[in-house]
Amino acid sequence: MLHEISALPSAALSEAQSARLFARGRTVFPDGTTRATVERDPTPRYVLRGEGAYLVDVDGQRFLDLNNNFTTLIHGHGFAPTIDAVTRLLRDGTCFSHPTAHEIELAELLVDRIPAVEQIRFVNTGTEAVMFAIKAARAFTGRPGIAKIEGAYHGSYDWAEAGQGGTPSTWGSAEAPVAVPAYAGTPDLVADGVVILRFNDADGARRRIAASADRLACVLFDPMPSRGGLIPPDPGFTAAVVETARQYGILVVCDEVLNLRQSYHGASARYGIEPDLIAAGKIIGGGFPVGAIGGSRRVMRVFDGSAGRAKLAQGGTFSANPVSMVAGRVSMEAMSEAAFARLEAMGDRLRATIAGAIKLRQANYVISGAASLFRIHPKQTLPRDYRQAYLSADEAALMKAMSRFFRKEGILLPSGAAACLSTAMSDADIDKIADVFERFLATAPVSEGRTK
Ligand SMILES: Cc1ncc(COP(=O)(O)O)c(C=O)c1O
Repeated sequence: MLHEISALPSAALSEAQSARLFARGRTVFPDGTTRATVERDPTPRYVLRGEGAYLVDVDGQRFLDLNNNFTTLIHGHGFAPTIDAVTRLLRDGTCFSHPTAHEIELAELLVDRIPAVEQIRFVNTGTEAVMFAIKAARAFTGRPGIAKIEGAYHGSYDWAEAGQGGTPSTWGSAEAPVAVPAYAGTPDLVADGVVILRFNDADGARRRIAASADRLACVLFDPMPSRGGLIPPDPGFTAAVVETARQYGILVVCDEVLNLRQSYHGASARYGIEPDLIAAGKIIGGGFPVGAIGGSRRVMRVFDGSAGRAKLAQGGTFSANPVSMVAGRVSMEAMSEAAFARLEAMGDRLRATIAGAIKLRQANYVISGAASLFRIHPKQTLPRDYRQAYLSADEAALMKAMSRFFRKEGILLPSGAAACLSTAMSDADIDKIADVFERFLATAPVSEGRTK
């Protein structure tokens, strides 16, 4: 049983306008908003505008934003070069049934930077990127199934979302994790077509990939799954996954929709993985909807219809729309190697300061993450996989209490997703995050059986 939570300051910030909007939203949207991922405590905070590292809500309060639209806004809100470029573009048209030079410019930038990407196709979301990467792997190999990491979130394509939301009562044994369906009515063929691997379990990955090899098109792999705990991969684990896949002619698809922000060359390059395909999104759209599938020419040829019918036809009314392409290019151009290095140094300093505060107080918290991403776990030791990172009811209440404490101090810390930094943040912002965490620890609630 959790105690002392009630001793925490309540969410006494003003939220009258947000509550009013939420009441209106409830009449037109089931559940009040149109994204299941919007955090609420108890109402969501409605935004008036963003200002660099900060956002202002409709009740006039200003917060340091550690969510940045689920890690998308690497420059924070209203990045002037992107806004200027998009503003200039708008009068010329926002979408055409014809290609524009803008798509080539963003593609060239990404091909130049990401070692695994020789060719690319654009879509509108990360969900679509993952879906087409899986379809491309199927079209290339002629096999239907996928293997994926337990607890990893890859968007809403049925096969990609199986096994993402398991609980202790549904996830099955450690040796044979279950492809828990994401919703009732999911066709059986989805679960039959998905093999779940436990993160950082090299032997299990080898065994499970080999056992289903003849029906697997790809291993869908996020090097540091955010919802899986934002835990670093063991090099032995990534090597086991890649080697076993190669041995059986199974493609390796890296989902870098979120983790591309880990370096100038992306996440798979950072962790020494050479995928056949990657899925990208978020930061490459500069704050506008985007997704991309990239990879070797050999595999990307499935999209090529120039000699007849493509093995995989991919279109999309808004795919490669010039607004997303221009915003993405301008935003990514500003992410020079030096800009990535600065973000990473800020992240390193923040993680080290927070880890130091935890050690000093011998508190039952750990911090994980890399580069500009971090996640604080109300756990004694660093989790190694989704099951270890999974929050009990008490731990979930502690996370909520922490987010609430941060919010009262003017910082929006996600309680269910990865937190991230933006280039709009200053050293003073980093100090403030660390300081608020230290003060949270000083007043932190504890659950029974735990020590501060
Ligand atoms: C790793 C990963 N893949 C895919 C997606 C889906 O992207 P989108 O929300 O743009 O559909 C997300 C979104 O958070 C993600 O984090």
